[in-house]
Amino acid sequence: MAKPKIIYACQNCGFQSPKWLGKCPDCNQWNSLVEERFEQAAHPRGELSLGTKEEPAPLAQISTAEEGRLLSGIGEFDRVLGGGLVPGSVILIGGDPGIGKSTLLLQAFSALSEKGLKCLYVTGEESQRQVKMRAERLGVSSPNLLILSETSLERIVDQIKRLKPSVLVIDSVQTIFTSSLPSAPGSLGQVRESSGAIIVLAKKGGLSTFLIGHVTKDGSLAGPRTLEHMVDTVLYFEGERGHNFRILRAVKNRFGSTNEIGVFEMKEAGLAEVSNPSELFLSERPLQVPGSAVICSIEGTRPILVELQALVSRSFLAVPRRTTIGVDHNRVALLVAVLEKKMGLNLFNQDIFVNVAGGVHVDEPAVDLGIIVSVASSYHEKPIDPQTVLFGEVGLAGEIRGIAQAEARVKEAGKLGFKRCILPLSNSRQLTHIKSPELIGVSSLAEVWEILF
Ligand code: TYD
Ligand code: MG
Repeated sequence: MAKPKIIYACQNCGFQSPKWLGKCPDCNQWNSLVEERFEQAAHPRGELSLGTKEEPAPLAQISTAEEGRLLSGIGEFDRVLGGGLVPGSVILIGGDPGIGKSTLLLQAFSALSEKGLKCLYVTGEESQRQVKMRAERLGVSSPNLLILSETSLERIVDQIKRLKPSVLVIDSVQTIFTSSLPSAPGSLGQVRESSGAIIVLAKKGGLSTFLIGHVTKDGSLAGPRTLEHMVDTVLYFEGERGHNFRILRAVKNRFGSTNEIGVFEMKEAGLAEVSNPSELFLSERPLQVPGSAVICSIEGTRPILVELQALVSRSFLAVPRRTTIGVDHNRVALLVAVLEKKMGLNLFNQDIFVNVAGGVHVDEPAVDLGIIVSVASSYHEKPIDPQTVLFGEVGLAGEIRGIAQAEARVKEAGKLGFKRCILPLSNSRQLTHIKSPELIGVSSLAEVWEILF
């Protein structure tokens, strides 16, 4: 018998090497290579599939007739998926333990099963009784929602072939294992092999599948980084400890917009949708306080108002601190340089902290003006009128550049009762038909200073 081949696989990125290495040359992680026995899986992936072997076909002949999306009726959830669930798509959901992934999917599956779809919820972490207890708390009961407490891939595959569900959840990918590999459940090889088999099954059978994955402390999906390439959609379920609201974010989506977010609130009886997140994010905003500015950012397809907070304080360090939460660190460094050079602020001996209230991440050029103005407001100790919303891209020469979807942003500000909107001049020229809020078009930082400080 041939000697089993030994390989060393990086548990972080999946890199494989014939020799042990202290540092992964691919992802630069230290001590992440683990010995694994390299064996051909007992079931080559093709054999697990439901269909026969596929032949190449011209695009024109490939039918998309059954591609109608499945709607759960939970608006925030459907939106993040890009307007409903695509049959046969595979979705990976990552999140910290205890954030509510199981709760979210149980609720979504309950809604889908009530529409008459056969749903299979496979849990490797809890017993059927535990799931039932949670379901009772959520008020979920549907004859079409089947719960299977199982960790063996082979038995899960058998059940899928027997039951032929329309939607499937695997909670979580770190708990299932295939007996064809000797490594322990949760190791990279196991996660990749078992998830790979399920993905093939889903694609061939038109079975929409959710894979739940745990994230590590640094926020990336533990183990299945390589999985991100194999699935259609990657969602992260996030929330701050001590806060009740949760954000479902699409970071990759083959069938919809990324950056799309869905906002939920964790309540006694499960997750409730927050259909107007702007109101929630601004609810605890302090008024007339220096360093606070309201901006409007487009998250996916919808405008959301959030509060940006900046604190500028005298630094006693050789290199002053620049700390940002929710906005890009480099962007802030660049804008601070613009403030120094163009507006004459002395920031070289000041610590600067920038935070987006509510745990949201805003990552688009339109927030530049908000960052600049909140930092300046804290520096000058002058509050910004709380009835004003700002947005616009700031260039290195201190000019204010137009941004996309200005009308949607202005309307969102109007809807929440804001009186003034400071926006790029080029955008305001196209929005002369809007009477409220009052639009103030600006083309340079100097003009903004005249208005605000
Ligand atoms: P869970 O879905 O088990 O998290 P995950 O699967 O991501 O690990 O969520 C568990 C948390 O949610 C737990 O701390 C309790 C809380 N929770 C509620 O507040 N209300 C509820 O109705 C439910 C079911 C859970
Ligand atoms: Mg769970």
